[in-house]
Amino acid sequence: MGEATPGIAAALERIAADIDHRFDLLLAVPDDPRRVLYHAMRHAAIGGGKRLRPLLVVATCDLFHVDKAAALRVATAIECMHVYSLIHDDLPAMDDDDMRRGKPTVHKAFSEAAAILAGDSLHAMAFELLAGEDTHSDPFVRAELVLELARAAGPAGMAGGQMMDLAAEHETFDLPTVTRLQQLKTGALIGFCLEAGAIMGRVPPEGRTGLRGYARDLGLAFQIADDMLDAEGSAAAAGKAVGKDAAAGKATFLSLLGIERARAQAQALVDQAIAHLHGHGPEADLLRAIARYAIERDH
Ligand code: IPE
Ligand code: IPE
Ligand code: MG
Ligand code: MG
Ligand code: MG
Repeated sequence: MGEATPGIAAALERIAADIDHRFDLLLAVPDDPRRVLYHAMRHAAIGGGKRLRPLLVVATCDLFHVDKAAALRVATAIECMHVYSLIHDDLPAMDDDDMRRGKPTVHKAFSEAAAILAGDSLHAMAFELLAGEDTHSDPFVRAELVLELARAAGPAGMAGGQMMDLAAEHETFDLPTVTRLQQLKTGALIGFCLEAGAIMGRVPPEGRTGLRGYARDLGLAFQIADDMLDAEGSAAAAGKAVGKDAAAGKATFLSLLGIERARAQAQALVDQAIAHLHGHGPEADLLRAIARYAIERDH
């Protein structure tokens, strides 16, 4: 037998340390007037967050025996994109939040200008990491990673979902529309994590069906859990304000289904996500554990 699959807690702890270390190296503060920008990026990127997307990248790369250091570069790239999305999501023009990951949001701790620029810079850094030669020796692999992240982050992905999410405060959305919203807002970047692992592992597109199915169901389950934390969780555990969706009158799975059906739906999606991994053996146990954790978490 090979190495035992690490428990989810140990895996999360390990990836958190790895990502913190990477950001510490990447974001050395220069001795010039850009220092505020770097401090703002460090504030947002280091020491917080579940690092679930990086763990998904590494867990998928491990299925295909991808080089660890290269996998971690891709994992850092997706976390850059995610942190950028959080910084901008918290801005007064969007959710207007004061707390994130148990700390003041970037625009509170620094300034709105610093928050916008820190987000812009992390967005750019994501592509810089993917396109760099250390990510993969084959430029076609690097180009595919860049293309997929651009798709996942743009108007047909996260940014488009964020626009729909803002509209959900004023328009009445039905279940298919909310599902589409969540697939874009949250699902697209989660989908990239699995896709990126397959790209790094040189899995041809026709071999990615199971991983794509897993990602689609996991993304929806993950966002239902986020909405449930907003409705029922504690701000202290979540590290961010709760009760905001209902206060904004936002259409979510919860507002449409009610708490019990939303919970059942999240569980069914996790079961379905795990079922998509039937073609993989014990080497996919970490992905299975991540799916369960996605809805059992309290933050
Ligand atoms: C929060 O994401 C925003 C959503 C897309 C729902 P996470 O719950 O992954 O936040 P962190 O990274 O752990 O802070
Ligand atoms: C934000 O969704 C998702 C992205 C940043 C793309 P939410 O607004 O629900 O996230 P939280 O609840 O503030 O973390
Ligand atoms: Mg939001
Ligand atoms: Mg928000
Ligand atoms: Mg939320």
